Amino acid sequence: MPRIEAVGIKTFEALAGRRLVLEIEDNGIDILHRCGGFARCTTCRIEVLDGDPGEMTERERTRLAREQELAPNIRLSCQILCEHDLKIRVINRLSETDLSDAGPRVLEDIDATGK
Ligand code: FES
Repeated sequence: MPRIEAVGIKTFEALAGRRLVLEIEDNGIDILHRCGGFARCTTCRIEVLDGDPGEMTERERTRLAREQELAPNIRLSCQILCEHDLKIRVINRLSETDLSDAGPRVLEDIDATGK
């Protein structure tokens, strides 16, 4: 099982092949995912500090191309499958906002087309 270290928060074992945003949330970290995992909002963004997050989905590549100020190690956790150990920084947390919820529950299937 991949080991995910969310720096400054906790380290946990993730289910291999599951979407990273779901593993982060289901391990008690209040990460934002305002678009529900469709690579639209970028609130689920993380900084990859170590490890291989895998190739970008086309959807992620297209969305991040619009955010030119972001460093290349910023990725969308809704578009990453847990395959390898990762050391990450969670950037946007519900508890650090005035929002009432983190966003719609992200579906298990990364290939869901969205609305
Ligand atoms: S981009 Fe919106 S939840 Fe990932």
